[in-house]
Amino acid sequence: MKNFKTLAVNRYTTKKYDSTKRISEELVEELKEVLWLSPSSINSQPWRFTFIANPTLKNELAEYSFHNEEKVKDASHIVVFSVIDDVAVFEKQIAKNLPEGAIAYYNKNIKPGPEDQIKNWMAHQVYLSLGFFLSACAHMGIDSTPMEGIDKPAYNNLLKLDGYRTLFAVALGYRDTGDSNQPVIKPKSRLDRDQVVFSVD
Ligand SMILES: Cc1cc2nc3c(=O)[nH]c(=O)nc-3n(C[C@H](O)[C@H](O)[C@H](O)COP(=O)(O)O)c2cc1C
Repeated sequence: MKNFKTLAVNRYTTKKYDSTKRISEELVEELKEVLWLSPSSINSQPWRFTFIANPTLKNELAEYSFHNEEKVKDASHIVVFSVIDDVAVFEKQIAKNLPEGAIAYYNKNIKPGPEDQIKNWMAHQVYLSLGFFLSACAHMGIDSTPMEGIDKPAYNNLLKLDGYRTLFAVALGYRDTGDSNQPVIKPKSRLDRDQVVFSVD
């Protein structure tokens, strides 16, 4: 098994997929399990993850994916990450599923804020699942592209995401061997490590 740093060095945002390669059903099931197991504040789980492999629907989504169009077309799967759009619905869900302590935390620390802030907090949880997911993909040898550059209202309509709203999507599959964004061709670009990572004694 590769160590995590090696995975971090080698994973990258795939810009061109091999349209002939498909992710096996077994691996797709594993990815679904990983998303289901994602951590979230107070175990709030305000999300929905929608997997799309159907070529017709993928092509329709591609039309609303701006500069990501080719990736959406050629990738094996698209996963759309959405968040519950109605705070009252979310509150009913947690009332039904979470222990009293978690609800008390929510009532004291999150609920008193303005609606926008509550919705932001919910969206943060979905973004956290993205980090978890991208790491899992790397571990499983699956290439990926996180994409905020999509027409989110159009995605909501095409997927009939009633009660949820799209935050971003992830394209999944296997890279075209010529993809020029691969770290072996284009080295990773980051700020100096000392500018962002500190130790305090
Ligand atoms: C939330 C999020 C949204 C992103 N949206 C896009 C996108 O729409 N299209 C794209 O090609 N890359 C997108 N990226 C990829 C970033 O540009 C990329 O992660 C960053 O440049 C670092 O490169 P690396 O992932 O190859 O290490 C997105 C990344 C994140 C985390």
